[in-house]
Amino acid sequence: MTAVISSTGLWTPEQSISNEELVEGFNAYVDKWNTDNAAAIEAGELDALTYSNAAFIEKASGIKSRFVISKEPILDPNIMAPRIPARSNDEPSILAEIAAHAAKQALESAGRKSEDVGAVIVACSNLQRGYPAVAVEVQSILGTSGFAFDMNVACSSATFGIETARGLIAGGQAKSVLVVNPEICTAHLNFKDRDAHFIFGDVATAILVEHINVAPKAHWEIIGSKLITQFSNNIRNNFGFLNHTAPEDDGMQGERGRKGLTDKLFVQNGRSVFKEVVPMVAKLINEECETHGIDPNNLKRMWLHQANLNMNVLIAKKVLGKDVEIEQAPVVLDEYANTSSAGSIIAFHKYSDDFAEGETGLICSFGAGYSAGAIFVKRVA
Ligand code: COA
Repeated sequence: MTAVISSTGLWTPEQSISNEELVEGFNAYVDKWNTDNAAAIEAGELDALTYSNAAFIEKASGIKSRFVISKEPILDPNIMAPRIPARSNDEPSILAEIAAHAAKQALESAGRKSEDVGAVIVACSNLQRGYPAVAVEVQSILGTSGFAFDMNVACSSATFGIETARGLIAGGQAKSVLVVNPEICTAHLNFKDRDAHFIFGDVATAILVEHINVAPKAHWEIIGSKLITQFSNNIRNNFGFLNHTAPEDDGMQGERGRKGLTDKLFVQNGRSVFKEVVPMVAKLINEECETHGIDPNNLKRMWLHQANLNMNVLIAKKVLGKDVEIEQAPVVLDEYANTSSAGSIIAFHKYSDDFAEGETGLICSFGAGYSAGAIFVKRVA
């Protein structure tokens, strides 16, 4: 094992939306829609829309608030979507910009100069264009050397990215690899969908993976890892260049495909996801613990993907065979909501300073694909 995690970085948008604010906006949209369609509803041709509820959201998901890049339009019943002004090709693209913010923090924290980084991987759920790779733009903004590329394994992108970085280091392609996870999840969320309008937020995280020979003295050794995928349509987003059938484009990024084409946005069968993914992830963690002779009870912390609080509690319980303390599986969902691939990395970033030499933990992601990734780490120095 030659690659280690040297540091992480986190960039958080300035604006946030509480459940109460979100629900107020949603319910205003419901009132408007029901008024606009009163005749059809009266005639039995359409079902009236029903209100969302802040207490339901917190109970069903653990989410209390979410950070967002564009607040007001999401709350405007006439828009119900972020409005992110389109930028010219001469300006840095938004995804590269927020990725660079998080990456700079990771570099600073490890005392690493940009030019010493040999590869950048942008690993996230929603890339804003086909090419050039956003990662190559991040490379240019930061001034890193070598090469860069994008990859997408939905919510598992960060752990798959860490493993990809490890492979590049083992293969001699680079000694320092930046894995960045810019997630503008609100751009693919249907804010008119009561079942899902509360789920996502925006953020960017970064992980610096390095050859042990160049890593700082204090780092995280990777003591075991496992990636799995298994096809499912239960979490899906059909957005893509073959699916741009909406002719209008009002100059706002994320607008294409939104005009009435809801399946070009995030859709999920939440109940099935819950039922199918919990055992899949618990099995993955338990088997991997066995392979590496790790007693799950000796894991000081599990930094789990942040999609649903009840799901995390259940996974942790299945792994440890007992109820878990919040310190053992910390939650950032309440503040950040689901931030796709960034979730487990936010948790790792915020809740890992108290580790002593030799203590072990687990970064674990799971989500669309289905996909899941487990990275076992041990604190060194
Ligand atoms: N406000 C009020 N009520 C709502 C609501 C809202 N915003 N959304 C749904 N409800 C209602 C439903 O209509 C339903 O009512 P009914 O029982 O009268 O039919 C009830 O609440 C339960 O809905 P359901 O969708 O079954 O809720 P849930 O308990 O499964 O929670 C999720 C929904 C999405 C939070 C949950 O299933 C989940 O998080 N699953 C995992 C998702 C996941 O990890 N996805 C990965 C994404 S990357």
